[in-house]
Amino acid sequence: MNRIVILFSGNGTNLENIIQKLHQKELLVAAAITNNPTAKGIERAKKYGIPVEVIDHRKFESREAFDRALVESIQKYGPDLVVLAGFMRILTPIFTSKIQNAINIHPSLLPLFKGARAIERSFASDMKVAGVTVHWVSEELDGGQIIDQACFHKEDESLEEFEAKIHALEYELYPKVIKDIVRGRCPQRG
Ligand code: GAR
Repeated sequence: MNRIVILFSGNGTNLENIIQKLHQKELLVAAAITNNPTAKGIERAKKYGIPVEVIDHRKFESREAFDRALVESIQKYGPDLVVLAGFMRILTPIFTSKIQNAINIHPSLLPLFKGARAIERSFASDMKVAGVTVHWVSEELDGGQIIDQACFHKEDESLEEFEAKIHALEYELYPKVIKDIVRGRCPQRG
């Protein structure tokens, strides 16, 4: 079976959704790695017996030094694919030059609303549609080649309702894209 490593920083609901849908069925989640020692996702991954590594970015003197440690840790597991699921660190070329098979999910229709607070900005905009994007990771934040997207028409709804719709789309789209990539059905990074 193909092996993936998942990177996360916080709640870890995408992490748990991927584990539930794909682990030991379509692929093996070899490890989950976080930069945040208090991330809720740590307990979520441990529940399924997934090895968790914490690499606290605050203990490194530069982004590059953190990325070197991160790359080293990822490479130990020999993953076929690295999956970023709410991993909130800006990556340097140290990461992107060494880890080429990495994908990310972003809660907007890229190239709109790159970066932080994408859900709030998408909600507040006068766009009539909103959605989520899965893309290859590149040097540019939320800027790599788009693999797939899903969207819906905005309604008269609260931010909480809107956010729930965004997450529901993520839980549907991300496992599907990961499955297609590990089955070789998806174009590799161009
Ligand atoms: C998700 O909505 C994901 O799209 C977003 O963080 C959330 C993580 O939630 N990622 C980004 O904004 C990346 N730029 P989770 O920890 O519950 O999966």
